[in-house]
Amino acid sequence: MSITILGIESSCDDTSAAVIKDGFLLSNYIANQDVHKAYGGVVPELASRAHQQNIIPVVDQALKKASVSKEEINAVAFTRGPGLLGSLLVGTSFAKSFALAMKIPLVEVNHLQAHILVHFIKQLEKENKQPNFPFLCLLVSGGHTQIVVVKDYLKMEIIGQTIDDAAGEAFDKCAKVIGLPYPGGPVIDKKAKLGNNKAFVFNKPKIKELDYSFSGLKTSFLYFIRDEIKKDNDFVKKNMNDLCASIQYTIIDILMEKLVRASKQTGIKQIAVAGGVSANSGLRDALTHQAKINHWETYIPEFNFTTDNAAMIGITGYYKYQNKEFATQDIAPIARFAY
Ligand code: KG4
Ligand code: ZN
Repeated sequence: MSITILGIESSCDDTSAAVIKDGFLLSNYIANQDVHKAYGGVVPELASRAHQQNIIPVVDQALKKASVSKEEINAVAFTRGPGLLGSLLVGTSFAKSFALAMKIPLVEVNHLQAHILVHFIKQLEKENKQPNFPFLCLLVSGGHTQIVVVKDYLKMEIIGQTIDDAAGEAFDKCAKVIGLPYPGGPVIDKKAKLGNNKAFVFNKPKIKELDYSFSGLKTSFLYFIRDEIKKDNDFVKKNMNDLCASIQYTIIDILMEKLVRASKQTGIKQIAVAGGVSANSGLRDALTHQAKINHWETYIPEFNFTTDNAAMIGITGYYKYQNKEFATQDIAPIARFAY
């Protein structure tokens, strides 16, 4: 029997809906929220309101693009967490109502697990290369930085994670220090391509085992900029590209060092990346470089599957549906959600 899943994502500032049929992506519609740009970060209350405005048109578009009617959907999968509670509530309430009205099962999805499962989204007329189990996934987003052993579609173990800020947060906070807009990651990435990544050296943290820390780097970057501005008011303007290249180089170096160690410790050479920061061109290059040295098989998502999207919720829903892992109508979103 054919399985068609409607995926709903509303954990942060993107409202998204997608349709997945038998593991193949039919549509993935995303409405970004520009309202936060003026504030230099996501404003939770504004995000919830924008989700409320967007959710119905976004679902409508996803169904239209997929040429699928509401009646053809077998289950609705939604992000239960982690994320902003108000944002999650909008997607959760919509999914519950849709399931109730259409008399179909409801499937709750962990947003982090979903980021990893993008590697199993199939697309028509594409190669659809998929990792074999077990594989390692470096999950790097605005809220999380983890090294995960993926044992099966829905069986994952975190073996390393940040003890403070996430890698995406480090990009965003450093960008803010030098006056760049939110989200800072993509802007730093673009400017870094024009700069010298050895122009400035920033200390890397010494953290035990496979864990990460990024808050010290952000603080030392802040102090460094403050001191240089005292000497030359135009320091940032004159060195913008080099600053972006050097901070990006340091963040990637920190990420890669532990990933290499994790591969050596576990003996796993199937290596994947996922999450918003996996869009970073420097990280993608570093991964390809380490793959050659360490004989890794690497899996790097398409750009539209790196940041938040509902296709990843749909594919996770597809696997949970097959396991008959259904949620009940009394389910509530969770802001902090472990595996
Ligand atoms: O996965 P995501 O969309 O949302 C969370 O679940 O957090 O990740 C957003 C994060 C932001 O911190 C953003 O700056 C970062 O991903 N990001 C990037 C790039 N594109 C997005 N960081 C570095 N380079 C990029 N090209
Ligand atoms: Zn995310």
